[in-house]
Amino acid sequence: MKLIIHGGFFSESSTSLETKIAKQEALKRILLNSYDFLESHSALETVIYAVEQLEDDLLFNAGIGSQIQSDGKIRMSASVMDGSSKKFSGVINIENVKNPIRVAERLMSYDDRVLGGEGAIKFARDNDFAEFNPEIPQRRLEFEEKLKSLGTGTVGCVALDKTGKIAAATSTGGKGFEMPGRISDSATTAGNYANEFCGISCTGVGEDIVSGAVATKIGIRMSDGFEIGAAVEKTFKELAEFDGFAGAIVLDAKGNFYHQDSHPSMVFASYDGEKFEVFR
Ligand code: GLY
Repeated sequence: MKLIIHGGFFSESSTSLETKIAKQEALKRILLNSYDFLESHSALETVIYAVEQLEDDLLFNAGIGSQIQSDGKIRMSASVMDGSSKKFSGVINIENVKNPIRVAERLMSYDDRVLGGEGAIKFARDNDFAEFNPEIPQRRLEFEEKLKSLGTGTVGCVALDKTGKIAAATSTGGKGFEMPGRISDSATTAGNYANEFCGISCTGVGEDIVSGAVATKIGIRMSDGFEIGAAVEKTFKELAEFDGFAGAIVLDAKGNFYHQDSHPSMVFASYDGEKFEVFR
């Protein structure tokens, strides 16, 4: 059993030591809690469980504490992919729900598995997801002062369970200040992908992640026989050709972890039952 999570990017210059330590502690708590859960649940159930906790933590840009768009509204995106069945489901630009990842989970059993905007909101209400405002005062202050809150990013998780199955989940509040209608990478296979060889969750600038088809390329390279490091490095080399801004966490079926970022530093933590690693 292996588990890796991320909470976006942070910048040394704009993040206080206090916030950095708080993020390290939050990731540790969520990772270890989710690893316990993985003991008796599938990879798919666990990635959703972990991302729900990341969405609930105000420190991260997903769910509660999401970024505000240029028209003053919060629109969130989240997706989940089961590596064994290859099923992908997600919500794009959903509003006023507490946990977008839980709406994405609910869509797994439908034929129409990725919903956007009004359709996603209606689906959530029809399925008893209560109205919930994910805004926090800090984000409103940043919005009013026209400040991008650097270092927030996206959240995600990849899990390998006892049966060797892999799943990936990703959730985001977006870039902040984006045009209404803008589509994030987080509910596409460029930002969240899993197959029987590996799982990948990305953070960074959605447009760059889609242009670089980051998670999809890593997944396909591994299914074509690349080792984890070679698959990630080649994909990030191609991203660098257009100065793409992205980070990725990757976990393969052999239990190897890998993380890479184009513009350090990514906020991540991993655990294999013995060794715990967290970003520094
Ligand atoms: N990676 C999150 C976004 O650009 O929306």
